[in-house]
Amino acid sequence: MSGVASEPGTQPPARTGPTSAVDRESYDELYRSAPAVWSGRPNRQLVAEAGDLTPGRALDAGSGEGGDALWLAERGWRVTAVDFSPVALQRAAARSRERAVDDRVEWVHADLDVWPPPEGRFDLVTAHYLHASWSDRAGMFRRLAAAVAPGGTLLVVGHLHGEERGHGHSHAHGADAMYTAEDVAAVLDPGEWPDVVTGTRDRDPGAAARTGNPVPDTVLVARRSGAR
Ligand SMILES: C[S@@+](CC[C@H](N)C(=O)[O-])C[C@H]1O[C@@H](n2cnc3c(N)ncnc32)[C@H](O)[C@@H]1O
Repeated sequence: MSGVASEPGTQPPARTGPTSAVDRESYDELYRSAPAVWSGRPNRQLVAEAGDLTPGRALDAGSGEGGDALWLAERGWRVTAVDFSPVALQRAAARSRERAVDDRVEWVHADLDVWPPPEGRFDLVTAHYLHASWSDRAGMFRRLAAAVAPGGTLLVVGHLHGEERGHGHSHAHGADAMYTAEDVAAVLDPGEWPDVVTGTRDRDPGAAARTGNPVPDTVLVARRSGAR
C-alpha cells in the first residue's frame, strides 16, 4: 500500500482470538461503496477539545478517511493514524498528499485489538466512533490511555446507543461494539488521571443529517498527570 505502513505482526490477518474479520470486511465494503463515506471535515468534539492545544504528537485510532488526522496535521501536529481498513487508509493517504501534509502523517495499517501503541508517546490520543467487535475492549482502551504522554489528553467519542438502533450505515456490529464514556473512564487509574470528564453532547447537526444518525455523542476527555 503506497504511503501506508503495516505494523509487523499487528496486521489484521495475524490476529488471534475472536476475529474482527467481519468488521474489517464490512468497513472495507462500506468504504468501497462511495468515493467518500464521511464528510472529510474534522469531528466536532475534536475541534472543541484540540483546537486550543499546542500541537505535538497525536494518535488517531480508527482514522477512517482521515478527516481528523488531516485537520490535526494542518494545525501542526505530527499524526500517527491507525486503521484496519486498507481501503480507508489508501484514500486517506491520497488526501494527505493532495493537501501536502503527507510528511506529517504516518498511516498505519493495524488492528487496534492487538496493536500496542508506543507507551507515553502522544500528547493527544483521539478515537471517534470506534465501534467494532473487540476481544478485550477494556484492554484496547487501556492501551490507548497508556499511549498518552504525561500532561497529554485522551479523547474518546462514541455513539450513545445500543446496537439495536441503526446509526446511518449498513454494516453490522457485534454485541460488544457500543460503549459509553463511563466505560472508558472505568479503565483509567485515578492516580494517573486526576482530571476526567465524561458526558453526553449533541451530535454535529450536519453529520446527523448526512448520515441519518441523530443519536448524541458520548464523550470522554481526560488529562494525564504530569507536565507536557
Ligand atoms: C465509524 S468509522 C470512524 C472513522 C473516523 N474516526 C471518523 O470519525 O471519521 C470507524 C473506523 O474505525 C476503524 N476500526 C474499527 N475497528 C478497528 C480495529 N479493530 N482496528 C483498527 N481500526 C478499526 C474502521 O475501519 C473505521 O474506519
